[in-house]
Amino acid sequence: MVSVLIDQNDRFLDILERLSSKSVEDYYNPYKLFEWPDRLPENMWWMSPELTTTYGTAAAERLTQEQLYALSRYESINFYSLNVHGIRELLIEVTKRIHTSGFETPSEFFHHFIGEENEHMWFFAEFCLRYGKKIYRQPAGASVEIPRSDVESLLVFARILIFEELVDHFNSKMALDTRLHETIRAINRIHHQDESRHIAFGRELVSALFAEVKKNSTEQELADVSAYIKRYMTYSFESLFNPQVYRDAGVEKPQELRRELLQAPARAKFEQSVFRKTTKFLQKAGII
Ligand SMILES: [Fe+2]
Ligand SMILES: [Fe+2]
Repeated sequence: MVSVLIDQNDRFLDILERLSSKSVEDYYNPYKLFEWPDRLPENMWWMSPELTTTYGTAAAERLTQEQLYALSRYESINFYSLNVHGIRELLIEVTKRIHTSGFETPSEFFHHFIGEENEHMWFFAEFCLRYGKKIYRQPAGASVEIPRSDVESLLVFARILIFEELVDHFNSKMALDTRLHETIRAINRIHHQDESRHIAFGRELVSALFAEVKKNSTEQELADVSAYIKRYMTYSFESLFNPQVYRDAGVEKPQELRRELLQAPARAKFEQSVFRKTTKFLQKAGII
């Protein structure tokens, strides 16, 4: 079904080659790269305030500066926890496909991808365990079944791309935010560097897989793909709003706060900014 990936056009091959050599050139030892102070100061932002879930809402006005700092601390642990879970799932899917029929062409790149993601998962988990003393559990509904069908690989790689683009929105902003501790900025900077390659690759792969699916699908099947992808985007965005985070930050009715924030007028703008580039890409490709 993905024969298109075997004899791909020159453009895809060039991109794969360029991204693979870039991976080799940029290779680093994550276990030596970062400074891990014993503690990070508590009276500062751990996440850019504009990226926290209460930003611009009435709820934020009810909180003291100290509570807002605490919230940013737990939200940052939640963000890196989501990374750990997202990476575990994408590693399973990519590992399932490497060197199997249909994936001959991208397999060389998959080796870099798998290696890099394993290292990302390590430094995100390290951050959570050191500074949060835990990894938040994966939110319910995470393993929303991917329908087993001809479109399975398309949905898998579209999910991976959406996840990586969401994360990158945060990484690219926090890497540059001078209000954050250098250790936090470094993690975001390094991840952003690697993810630029993964996202460039993901867009090519998803476009190629979609072109193939389109040839063999009815209107209804394409509408189902579009609906599935939109649902996945909503789910990913909502996983940023974790009631356990609100509880840890001392909020009395965490579920109520979550509901309030998801219904707040600020939500739409936040969601649009997180997925601005992703939506543009998916629309242009005709996927949604
Ligand atoms: Fe990553
Ligand atoms: Fe990645």
